[in-house]
Amino acid sequence: MTRLKRTAIVMALALLPLPVVAQGPRGGAALAERWCMACHNVEANPPRTVTNGTPSFAAIAARPETTPASLDGYLSTGHTRMPDFALSPSEKNALITYILSLR
Ligand code: HEC
Repeated sequence: MTRLKRTAIVMALALLPLPVVAQGPRGGAALAERWCMACHNVEANPPRTVTNGTPSFAAIAARPETTPASLDGYLSTGHTRMPDFALSPSEKNALITYILSLR
């Protein structure tokens, strides 16, 4: 196999899974389970728990000041205690939709 072909295949595989799951709340749930669950409780139940200072997604959704814009702002900047995931706009939207669906 030529080097170019191999590179093309690797790139195609790398691009495959995420855009497929990053649609709508279901996709957001899958992303949350994959990337956010290590620190956050991402499920609706049990709601509003805080572990080690990390708020659950239900607790975040329940705050009156939480809006799509506030979540977008938070997820678009770096944080001291939370890694920067460099989310694509569609991944970000799926996660925001999912978090707000826990309201
Ligand atoms: C390594 C642990 C860790 C991971 C993984 C993580 N977070 Fe966080 N997150 C935190 C901590 C800790 C906070 C509390 C605020 C702070 O100190 O930065 C936080 C805060 C937040 C907040 C803001 C809550 C508020 O107070 O307004 C949002 C929204 C959020 N995370 C979303 C996510 C999403 C979406 C993912 C997955 C893409 C994620 N987090 C993955 C640790 C993490």
